[in-house]
Amino acid sequence: MNQTSNADIMKAFNKNARVYDRWMTFFERYIANGARAWAVSKAHGTVVEIGVGSGLNLPLYGPEVEHVTGFDLSEKMLSIARRRVAEKRTARVELHHGDAQTLDLPSGSADTFISTFTFCTIPDPLAASREAYRVLRPGGVFVLTEHGRSTRALARSIMRAIEPLIIRVSAEHITRDPVPYLTGAGFTITEVQRGGPGGIVFRILAHKQPLRD
Ligand SMILES: C[S@@+](CC[C@H](N)C(=O)[O-])C[C@H]1O[C@@H](n2cnc3c(N)ncnc32)[C@H](O)[C@@H]1O
Repeated sequence: MNQTSNADIMKAFNKNARVYDRWMTFFERYIANGARAWAVSKAHGTVVEIGVGSGLNLPLYGPEVEHVTGFDLSEKMLSIARRRVAEKRTARVELHHGDAQTLDLPSGSADTFISTFTFCTIPDPLAASREAYRVLRPGGVFVLTEHGRSTRALARSIMRAIEPLIIRVSAEHITRDPVPYLTGAGFTITEVQRGGPGGIVFRILAHKQPLRD
């Protein structure tokens, strides 16, 4: 069964929180090189980060960012993020236990949404895309970096074959393509880059249309 629930996410990430940063160091060095820095560099103004995890992005935001509100379902991941914020004295950050699919935020209140390696784990990615669209102001941007299906047929087949096991162990959908969910929610895709081995790393910018006069 490939469908996950919020309970599966909490269970998987509470269990894996202790080793998450170490695994991510490996993943970023050999697979997603530079994707996190790219995503963070696109953020400005009032930022909402979904699936903030252990807070690896938080010390990286530049001076264009006024405020960051981060949400995550896993308390264990959030507690690492809270420690990171305290140690690095990262001001302008608020962290909440919360669900990207139903955010407790006013409509049109954010300039930037960020999702780094989170979209593959969200049980209902269309619901999360619709929430991002609602909470962004007109003209706002959703920045995603993610791993997804390879551009190579053989690699794609292997990924499909092992995906059920990965979902069971870490609640991650490794062949998910974020683009159809974003367009389905109303976003205009303004940039898609594919990199990493077999093109599995996506870098995506999706804009909410500005209001017309
Ligand atoms: C692979 S980690 C990525 C963490 C972080 N964004 C990073 O770049 O290292 C995915 C995170 O998304 C969180 N997550 C998954 N589904 C979520 C949801 N619906 N709402 C909030 N957080 C969610 C998980 O708990 C986990 O911490």
